[in-house]
Amino acid sequence: MSDALAAQTPAVTQPTPADAARRHTPVLLDRCLDLLAPALEVAEPVMIDCTLGLGGHTEAALERFTDLTVVGIDRDPQAIALASARLARFGDRFRAVRATYDAVDAVAYDASHRLDHTVDAILMDLGVSSLQLDDADRGFSYARPAPLDMRMDQTGGRTAQELLDGADERELTRILRTYGEERFAPRIAAASCAVATPVTPSPPLPS
Ligand SMILES: C[S@@+](CC[C@H](N)C(=O)[O-])C[C@H]1O[C@@H](n2cnc3c(N)ncnc32)[C@H](O)[C@@H]1O
Repeated sequence: MSDALAAQTPAVTQPTPADAARRHTPVLLDRCLDLLAPALEVAEPVMIDCTLGLGGHTEAALERFTDLTVVGIDRDPQAIALASARLARFGDRFRAVRATYDAVDAVAYDASHRLDHTVDAILMDLGVSSLQLDDADRGFSYARPAPLDMRMDQTGGRTAQELLDGADERELTRILRTYGEERFAPRIAAASCAVATPVTPSPPLPS
């Protein structure tokens, strides 16, 4: 496995397995497991959970399919830490990979027992997790005032505030229309630019 895909457990928080279980209720859990069953009721099945989150779907799958191995992908280091603590009891039946899910091919290649490098199931529970929504500092909440962060991986990339500071109305319209499929993109972009704080350049360094 490449270094880039290696699981990392940064010291973002001190997770306990109970934290993870408490913070997020997996959606359509039984229905998901029922749909996965035909693929997973085989000898030594392997599943990739592309959106590990707090590990709710993966935990239930590991409990129900006792021969199953899961590799869980998430780009959020805090989710990786919490889910890893929660799922540690499954030993080598579970492994976390901090990556974006477009790395799924490489992860499957590495996880597969087969010559053709296929796996038995891939699960994607797309969106944000309760962990990200509930923690005001993550900047996803619109219920509480918070810094406009909105990064799923807070160790890199631009915050939403930095993006707003650097983008003009046209660029914001493009972003909202392209990635949000938002029909009111021009109006939202115009309103955002009207209230946006102008960028304050850093003072020059003393010579
Ligand atoms: C709805 S939550 C998954 C919850 C999970 N099924 C559970 O039961 O706890 C979605 C997760 O996908 C992750 N995510 C979103 N976009 C991602 C991407 N492009 N690559 C990897 N993970 C991503 C988020 O960080 C979040 O933890």
